Amino acid sequence: MPPKKRLLLIGGSGYLGQHLAPLAAPSYDLYATYQQSSAAITAGQALPLDLTNRNAVVALIQELAPEIIIHTAAINPGRGNDLAMQRVNVDGSRYMAEAANLVGARLVHVSSDVVHDGRHAPYADDAPPNPLNVYGQTKALGEAAVQAYCPHAAIVRTSLIYGLNVIDRSTAGFAAQLQRGETLALFSDVIRQPVWVEDLATALLKLGDLDFAGLLNIAGSQPITRELFGRKLLQWWQVGHETQICAGLAAEISDTIPLDLRLTLDKAEALLNMNLKGVDEVIKRSPNL
Ligand SMILES: NC(=O)c1ccc[n+]([C@@H]2O[C@H](COP(=O)([O-])OP(=O)(O)OC[C@H]3O[C@@H](n4cnc5c(N)ncnc54)[C@H](OP(=O)(O)O)[C@@H]3O)[C@@H](O)[C@H]2O)c1
Repeated sequence: MPPKKRLLLIGGSGYLGQHLAPLAAPSYDLYATYQQSSAAITAGQALPLDLTNRNAVVALIQELAPEIIIHTAAINPGRGNDLAMQRVNVDGSRYMAEAANLVGARLVHVSSDVVHDGRHAPYADDAPPNPLNVYGQTKALGEAAVQAYCPHAAIVRTSLIYGLNVIDRSTAGFAAQLQRGETLALFSDVIRQPVWVEDLATALLKLGDLDFAGLLNIAGSQPITRELFGRKLLQWWQVGHETQICAGLAAEISDTIPLDLRLTLDKAEALLNMNLKGVDEVIKRSPNL
């Protein structure tokens, strides 16, 4: 048997990372990083890393010399201020790309559909970004840094990530709001293609073993409004309180929420030989009885 490839998973403690690690562990020599807590890392060797420290990023990658790096770490909305987003999503991604290029590692970088303005859907894989908010700006600048410093990297634009084993942070937040007796307004004018975390993790691992370079959309195949998606997941998690949920319009609240972020997926599905399942298909396969 040939030796297992060394895989460095940046952001192993995050929602995506904690699903990706157990999937990768049987086939790779796996190292998974965390910043604040390693508790969610259940597979591979956990390593602390602060992406804002360039020397630490370069030293870790030089020392490990991984064949593959999957970069899932980021400051997402609600998890840090604008400066933290800039330092992690832009500068940290740049350090990662520089270091990956230095050791000749295959880099798979995770970006977001929010790099788009939501006015020109469906978006092709290489559609130029035009973000409406700071998070989207930092994700777009992160993509540009990765392209500049590691031109052979694969850059994945994905959508809302959910799973049926661990509740995602948005749905958990909605559930908490309902349980406090509050009304929950879910946007009926916001369209996304939520991706099942197991499909996304599988796709990223496959991509790590290919030499595809450039931008690739990887999301679920079912476009759905934020309202309907929220309702379906809350129902699946048996949260109840349906009468407290109402429809709201993002366009009436803010002009920084991109409305329609449908993505074309034919390139990813052909390249990865995968059917990227939609929400209804995933829920149908895993009824919560
Ligand atoms: N979640 C979504 O719906 C969604 C949608 C579109 C795109 N994305 C993108 O998908 C990727 C994965 O998202 P996710 O939901 O899994 O994120 P997440 O749960 O918020 O996890 C973020 C990860 O980044 C790490 N991190 C934060 N600051 C760091 C720093 N300074 N140095 C090193 N690591 C740091 C965190 O470590 P600690 O927890 O240990 O601090 C954690 O492992 C991200 O690139 C995100 O932008 C997510």
